[in-house]
Amino acid sequence: MKENFKIALLPGDGIGPEVIQEAVKILKIVGKKLNLTLETEQVPVGGAGYEATGHPLPEESLKAAKNADAVLLGAVGGPKWENLDFSLRPERALLGLRSSLQLYANLRPAKIFPALLEASTLKREVVEGLDIMVVRELTGGIYFGEPRGVETLADGTRKGVNTLVYTEPEIERIAKIAFQVAGKRDKKVLSVDKANVLEATGLWREVVTRVQKDFSDIELQHMYVDNCAMQLVRDPNQFDVIVTTNMFGDILSDEASMLTGSIGMLPSASVGGETGMYEPIHGSAPDIAGQGKANPLATILSVGMMFKYSLNREEVDSWIEKAVESVLNKGVRTPDIMSKGMKEVGTTEMGDLVAEELEKNGI
Ligand code: IPM
Ligand code: MG
Repeated sequence: MKENFKIALLPGDGIGPEVIQEAVKILKIVGKKLNLTLETEQVPVGGAGYEATGHPLPEESLKAAKNADAVLLGAVGGPKWENLDFSLRPERALLGLRSSLQLYANLRPAKIFPALLEASTLKREVVEGLDIMVVRELTGGIYFGEPRGVETLADGTRKGVNTLVYTEPEIERIAKIAFQVAGKRDKKVLSVDKANVLEATGLWREVVTRVQKDFSDIELQHMYVDNCAMQLVRDPNQFDVIVTTNMFGDILSDEASMLTGSIGMLPSASVGGETGMYEPIHGSAPDIAGQGKANPLATILSVGMMFKYSLNREEVDSWIEKAVESVLNKGVRTPDIMSKGMKEVGTTEMGDLVAEELEKNGI
């Protein structure tokens, strides 16, 4: 089995660098325990990339990502860059990485840790046992469709356009991933669309239905996105795997994350190409950046997904999950998941506690 890996670190902006620092501690501990050689290279992207080179995804950074076995990304964006042209905004770095690395499948697990049941804004009985996997299409749909842009018509009226496009092969490949993922879980897939209004998602429904014929042990259901948004807060435990388009997945995964108590808890994996990319689903949170308050757990859990999907060490994902769980069981909390009677800790302390737990009991 391969034992040398190259990992590109892309801390990005806001709380990105703080949470990446904690995740790297975990990466190093696991690497050492398993006798792996993990070569890391840190490069700027997003606002940091723009500041360094005038472009949010500098060529050198993209090259480092492409040459790596896996990419660990913090977050991009911030008020400082909000008025830049769209092509220079930090978010373009993320979209550029996704399309250049052909990461068409985004896996976003929303799983509740029993210790955090009280942190959810929903009632305990609604979220208890929650374990959903959102499979979001990541390189197509309205995020990438042409034509796009804002133009001025002859009478001076401005017109903004974005286009929702999906081809059959794009739908087929993401549907396959969803059925494969479901095969290792509860064998249920919910495909989410707006087939009553949008033709492109009518095609989505048709193709997903066809692909299911090759996965006869997996149960497939369809739901309109508005209904799904409602069902997610009404009775989220009815879901196992949710497969959906780029934009619906963006929205529904934020909603699903909140069921687990905090968006600060959710990791993600973007796969499909040769190099996988791993990142917390929360953003750069500029309001708390540099204050040592950010929750590093989503990024730490993303390291687990990296071992599972890119470094061929599937077992590490559950080790890291268990370490996080025992730390939470001890009653320590970052401010975003704080509740009465718990002990509040900062970013570094939380990272250290997970690291210590892994050193002691984990592996
Ligand atoms: C996400 C984010 C990104 C997205 C932004 C930052 C471009 O919200 O990863 O969910 O919309 O995909
Ligand atoms: Mg999002």
